[in-house]
Amino acid sequence: MPDSHIPVITIDGPTASGKGTVAALVAERLGFHLLDSGALYRLTALSAMRAGISLDDEQAVAQIAEALPASFANEGVFLDGEEVGAAIRVEEVGNNASKIAAFPGVRQALYELQLGFRKAPGLVADGRDMGTVIFPSAKLKVFLTASVEARAERRYKQLIGKGISANMEDLLEDLQARDDRDTHRTVAPLVPAEGAYILDTSDMTVEVAVEQVLHWHALL
Ligand code: DC
Repeated sequence: MPDSHIPVITIDGPTASGKGTVAALVAERLGFHLLDSGALYRLTALSAMRAGISLDDEQAVAQIAEALPASFANEGVFLDGEEVGAAIRVEEVGNNASKIAAFPGVRQALYELQLGFRKAPGLVADGRDMGTVIFPSAKLKVFLTASVEARAERRYKQLIGKGISANMEDLLEDLQARDDRDTHRTVAPLVPAEGAYILDTSDMTVEVAVEQVLHWHALL
């Protein structure tokens, strides 16, 4: 039976826009499954780094993505059985994920894996191209954004909270470089999907953003 009847909510947006947090809470409230697609690009980058593969070698990185030994369980992220939830969140892995995500071969390799997350009773999928490429038939598409300053501040607080030192200027520069790469790449660039609701969370709490998405969902 095709999966097309299973509801999907896509939440796309730039890095540190809060979409991961909002997506997780919306999924929890609705009892839906969750796809953190950025984690797949991060796992691919981490796996390639550990294997000593050049991140400029599209074919080799795509091969890693094709056979990615990734699993998600009990809110943990596993690579070959090892919990790597913290390892994939470091800035270096995020930057490398953004680089390898520009390769069409890598995106193609992760395509089917992402479709597999569409399971009853529903899915909340967050990323950059969830509404445009992976789940174009999604019932509700949201584009979550926030000013680069608000996003840098959130990232700064997140890192400091984890006891990781951070520098605001470096973070701003990093975010701008990543935005630029994610927005201007030729395959699956970061753009709002047709019909997407735009949600600017610069001056909004997570709770308000979650309620807004749930409200849109209830209207459909
Ligand atoms: O959402 P995130 O910061 O964890 O994603 C890390 C990188 O992965 C991001 O800079 C771009 C890439 N990515 C992508 O190209 N497509 C997605 N659907 C999700 C992430």
